[in-house]
Amino acid sequence: MRITVLTGAGISAESGLATFRASDGLWEEHRIEDVASPEGFVRDPDLVHRFYNDRRKGAAAAQPNAAHRALAELAGRHDLTLITQNVDDLHERAGSPDVIHMHGSLSTALCASCGHRWPAPAEMSPQTPCPSCAALAARPDIVWFGEMPYHMERIWAALEDCDLFAAIGTSGNVYPAAGFAQHAGRMGANCIELNLQNSATSRDFDHHIRGPASETVPGWVASLS
Ligand code: APR
Repeated sequence: MRITVLTGAGISAESGLATFRASDGLWEEHRIEDVASPEGFVRDPDLVHRFYNDRRKGAAAAQPNAAHRALAELAGRHDLTLITQNVDDLHERAGSPDVIHMHGSLSTALCASCGHRWPAPAEMSPQTPCPSCAALAARPDIVWFGEMPYHMERIWAALEDCDLFAAIGTSGNVYPAAGFAQHAGRMGANCIELNLQNSATSRDFDHHIRGPASETVPGWVASLS
């Protein structure tokens, strides 16, 4: 059985990482246009680097939870394509062999001048030089609002080719990810949503499992023969 899974911030919530739209979410404390847009980076690169330095530190201190581990185990038993909107590395640290980071990753730095990528230092600043071209143009390798998500060709192919599509811990507020269930469903996949509560796209799913991911995901993975 070919399975495609999309994860969102909710799968890392029980690892202690803030989600975006909860009452204590990241977008309650920061304006998206200030810390998650190209314009915000041009306006105040130091603020943006500090925002991602804090998130990089938080992600490094966090541990994968049972949901991350269950998906890593699933990859050993089924043809699984794992897509995440998350920029933490908890899927990799749980043992998932191939993670598609459609919104980028805190683990890499990107040179806005020459396009070079390298392992992100713990703390980045406007004075961080690119190791390839030496320009002081380092930015977090994060897809900001208004930018194109990464790996979309591979993602559309996985959605069109899978028998089962699961979305875990995402509110369905941000496209194109919010449209993945509809697309996979149109191509014949069975769609299941694992979330604490209803999302903006719950109607696009055939099945729903409600509860915290660290409890629901291991049970769901175990139910897949
Ligand atoms: N278990 C399962 N689901 C959970 C848990 C949990 N323990 N805690 C929260 N959730 C659910 C919430 O109910 C919500 O539906 O996870 C979802 C988190 O939603 P958001 O905070 O909007 O995060 P996400 O959907 O990943 O955001 C998508 O928006 O801001 C951009 O680029 C950012 O990748 C992000 C994108």
